[in-house]
Amino acid sequence: MMKADVLLGLQWGDEGKGKAVDVLAPSYHWIARFQGGPNAGHTLWMDGQKIVLHTIPSGIFREDCMNLIGNGVVIHPPSLLQEIKALRQHGLRLEGKLMISAKAHLILPGHRLLDQAFESAKGDHKIGSTLRGIGPAYTDKYARHGLRYGDLAGPQGKALLETAHEEHLRQLKALDFELPNNLPEHVQEWMDAINELHSDFAPADGSWLLNQALDQGQKVLAEGAQGSLLDVEFGAYPFVTSSHTTSASACTGLGIAPNRLGTVYGLFKAYCTRVGSGPFPTELHDQTGEALRRAGNEFGATTGRPRRCGWLDLPALAYAIRLNGVSQLIITKADVLSGFEEIKIATRYQGLDNHLSPFPADPSKCIPEYTSFQGWTLDNSNNCLHRNELPSELQHYLTYIENQINIPINYISTGPERNQFIETK
Ligand code: GDP
Ligand code: IMO
Ligand code: MG
Repeated sequence: MMKADVLLGLQWGDEGKGKAVDVLAPSYHWIARFQGGPNAGHTLWMDGQKIVLHTIPSGIFREDCMNLIGNGVVIHPPSLLQEIKALRQHGLRLEGKLMISAKAHLILPGHRLLDQAFESAKGDHKIGSTLRGIGPAYTDKYARHGLRYGDLAGPQGKALLETAHEEHLRQLKALDFELPNNLPEHVQEWMDAINELHSDFAPADGSWLLNQALDQGQKVLAEGAQGSLLDVEFGAYPFVTSSHTTSASACTGLGIAPNRLGTVYGLFKAYCTRVGSGPFPTELHDQTGEALRRAGNEFGATTGRPRRCGWLDLPALAYAIRLNGVSQLIITKADVLSGFEEIKIATRYQGLDNHLSPFPADPSKCIPEYTSFQGWTLDNSNNCLHRNELPSELQHYLTYIENQINIPINYISTGPERNQFIETK
């Protein structure tokens, strides 16, 4: 039986999922996003040109690849339309290549305002949301008064939007939120956008499409957004996103049964980053953290915010691998550590046996213990094609991680471009 593979991030997002999916996409017939929404920013570099995808799957640049926005994703029509228009300017034809699930929930104009209202009400305890309306959209979904992509196709769409919008206005008033003057124009723009989307991309039955594809022996890759440590269930709640970011979510977010999941690719950076608030045990508040941010160009692909940086955290990585049933590892940004004299890995938290101990529900008070490694110099312009051509110190770093985690590192990303990707045999 053909199975769908899953590729997802094992840290706090921005592990380089977009690039990895783009590189692996030629081996797949379908790339499908299963959760999250435009809070994601997945960067692809093509011939020196940068493209950031937010809702569209990262297989879109591959000629023979179908792309599905699955039912588990939340869609903001004006943003999706803008993304589509930007891709058309790159000469891409998306009709017939991009499918949108009828069951995907919509981010309404009021959801974005509610996101802002809730965040400002939190004061110092704010989550650091991307303010893309993700939390309020999933809230309405689970409260069973959300609107889905398919619901708005047809003459009843306008009335459905108006009723939902009035409810949001009532909530915003109760929160004393000052409405922007251009809100009516934005609501109109939102409605125009969904109508335009419907005319080019009819609501689809994503689950049926993928199951059909698998039945016919086609290959499917589910593309995760955010990272496992931002999962609403298993992240350090409430400093999480509002969707399930772990592999199980590929089943519910696409309508694929658990026995149809195959390889789970887990991505991690050679160090750690986090954007937004919340616990980050290995965070560096010093010059080294600043140097990592500079070397890795660690600024959010969606919001431009500086990312918090720190050393690789083995207890957190082992936890994420456990949650996802990872079978193959992909390490990214190994090149960023080039030139650092000393590199560290947190091998356990004080008071716990080792990195395989239960992961604390609130890691904010955890004090990591580190092992030091000698740094390496990686000439990025000279693309290595084999793992054994990498600097010996980096090879030692990789072998150490594999031995601790007991899962092979099958791919090593050494730069943002497509050709900077080593498959280890
Ligand atoms: P995603 O959200 O997981 O897709 O990751 P982002 O696109 O938000 O952030 C990853 C950033 O690192 C992007 O700017 C990528 O172009 C870049 N990138 C990806 N892999 C590598 C790598 O191996 N080395 C370097 N230096 N940059 C990389
Ligand atoms: P990709 O797919 C990094 C973070 C936000 C915030 C928290 C909640 O590019 O890896 P939300 O907007 O969901 O209410 O924000 O989650 N966050 C991300 N951090 N990468 C992402 O996506 C993220 N999506 C959300 O910064 O801390
Ligand atoms: Mg990102």
